[in-house]
Order: sequence, then structure tokens, then C-alpha cells
Amino acid sequence: MKQRILFVCLGNICRSPAAEEIFRTLVARRGLTDRITTDSAGTYSGHAGELADPRMRRAAAARGYELTHHARPIRSADFERFDRIIVMDDYNYETVHRLAPSRADGEKIYRMREFFGQTHYSYVPDPYYEGHEGFEIVLDLLEEACERLLEELTEQA
Ligand code: 4NP
Repeated sequence: MKQRILFVCLGNICRSPAAEEIFRTLVARRGLTDRITTDSAGTYSGHAGELADPRMRRAAAARGYELTHHARPIRSADFERFDRIIVMDDYNYETVHRLAPSRADGEKIYRMREFFGQTHYSYVPDPYYEGHEGFEIVLDLLEEACERLLEELTEQA
């Protein structure tokens, strides 16, 4: 059975499009592209249609990830289309939770921190108002969490 994973942040131009591409790359490396699909969305629609922030695209490209996603807001149909909705921080978790059409849909929502290893971060920090280092921290967290997420999904299968 196909597993469909949606990553969600606020603007869908920094954290979640990076998570999407990192995860897609790991899935491809493991030869699982026909079993696991991924997408991303934002809870704020102000950047809809835009490519990822140039600072994030640059930082991701330096690690070999090409971000081609165009931002889009999350919609209630996403709860039907995806098996897991993985959210970058508590603020967005609450927003996504309020959108869930049913209790069962609410159980599809996870926090990215559930897949962190040893770190003092309890969420993926918003890098939008940060310097270069903020983007590197986000990519470090996402790379590790995506590995663990994929491990969990493949153990389940
Ligand atoms: P993201 O970052 O949620 O990781 O895409 C942000 C992008 C845009 C804004 C905030 C955070 N903004 O305020 O426009």
C-alpha cells in the first residue's frame, strides 16, 4: 500500500518544502519511490504559488537538494489525500488540528520533533527572520528527522 506524507509549516517556502525534498531524496535512495509519496503545504497562504525562499533554496542546493515546489495552503481535502501530516511546530500543529474534518483525521497529524534525535530543539525553528545559520540548523534537524521517519515507515510496512 502506498504511504502518502504531507509536511506542513507556516509559509510553505522554508521548512516544509525542504523537508519534502529531503524526504523524497531519502525515499528514492532506498528505492521506495513507488511506495511513498510526499508533498508540502503551509497554514498561511500569503506565499502561495512561490518557489521556496532563495536563502533556503541556496542552503538546500549546497547539500544536493533542488527545491522545485510551489507554495500552496493546506486544505481539508489533504486529510483524505494523505496518511500522515507532519507539522514543523506547535503553532502550526494547532492550526492544522483545527482544520481536521474528523477525530480520525486529527490522528494523522504528527509533530516533526517526534522524529528528532538528541537535540535541545523541541520544534523546527522558523528561519524566515534568521541569518544563514538558521537555515543550516533547520536542514540539520530535517535531515535527521526524515531518516527516522523513513525508518519508522519501513519498519511498519
Ligand atoms: P516557513 O517560513 O513557515 O518555514 O515557510 C516562513 C515563511 C514566511 C513567513 C514566516 C515563516 N512569513 O511570515 O511570511
